Amino acid sequence: MKLHEALNIDLNEINREIKNLVTHDKDVPKKSQLAQSILELTGSGGKRLRPLMVIVGSRFGLRPAGRRTLQLSAAAEFIHVASLIHDDIIDNAELRRGEPALHIKTGILSAVHIGNYMSARIIELLSKYTGDKDRYVHDLSSVATSQLCLGEYQQLEHAFDYDLTLEQYLEKSRNKTALLMATCLRVGALSAESSTETAQLLYDFGEALGMSFQIQDDILDFTQSADVLGKPAGSDLRHGQVTLPVLFALEDAELAPVIRRIGPGSSPADIEQVLELVRASDALTRSEAVSQDYLARAAAIVEQLSSFPAHADLNILLEYFAGRDR
Ligand code: FPP
Ligand code: MG
Repeated sequence: MKLHEALNIDLNEINREIKNLVTHDKDVPKKSQLAQSILELTGSGGKRLRPLMVIVGSRFGLRPAGRRTLQLSAAAEFIHVASLIHDDIIDNAELRRGEPALHIKTGILSAVHIGNYMSARIIELLSKYTGDKDRYVHDLSSVATSQLCLGEYQQLEHAFDYDLTLEQYLEKSRNKTALLMATCLRVGALSAESSTETAQLLYDFGEALGMSFQIQDDILDFTQSADVLGKPAGSDLRHGQVTLPVLFALEDAELAPVIRRIGPGSSPADIEQVLELVRASDALTRSEAVSQDYLARAAAIVEQLSSFPAHADLNILLEYFAGRDR
């Protein structure tokens, strides 16, 4: 069963709202490359994890989810997709979900502008919520988006930095991945008038889930084939990303010098050698244990929310994240 089915969420409704974000913009001709690229990208079958989190969050509110919740869920996907456009340019990635990345199709300049427009469109959309009680809405378009950019910057700043600390790795992962997920659950809850305490617990749950998600992603770079990843294995290593498995492997006195030799000019054979060494070490098992620890933290938060019938949906999310192979 698909995740949205298990959660009993109508994906068509979310997809329609995402489409509206472009087609209802009177300043953008529907046949333009801008509109068409966004429609293609947002229609290309992502799992809609973040929109689903917004809807699940809303189930902890005092009133049923309405149009605002749906708009927030569409906004979350828009921000996510915009960030992936830029991420693929930064990572020099040719493939996204097995298809050519946007910048490969349009050129880098157009792709940058398309990503910027998508991000700005969300600010425009959410700026109509001006009341004091509506402030939380802007967490998605302002705080969460700044954190994404900051996380990506921290990653770039520490490319090939083999002295990166565990704390720096965790902070970058939190900014880049976990806080958007946390915000999705929180704004979903507040859009349905949950208490601030419940919204905070959901935020903490989303953060723990997101940390586990990013660590799993980092492990997959070592364990999965290019077919499954939709990009070559070892991409993180090649781009100098010092992920959790690399940090653990660096603790091994024999492995460390081999890893430290990897730089921007390393050959595919050098990368393959390090991939093999990390796979043969205990680094992946140790990383998996950290990921499991975050899932356990998330499970403990579900316990605290067990008086809400919707806590069952959090367990569905947990199971999905625990069994994720991409
Ligand atoms: C995927 O990373 C990328 C992110 C989680 C965030 C990227 C954010 C930016 C580029 C900032 C720009 C943001 C906006 C809103 C314009 P990854 O390379 O680890 O994952 P991948 O395997 O999916 O590429
Ligand atoms: Mg990337």
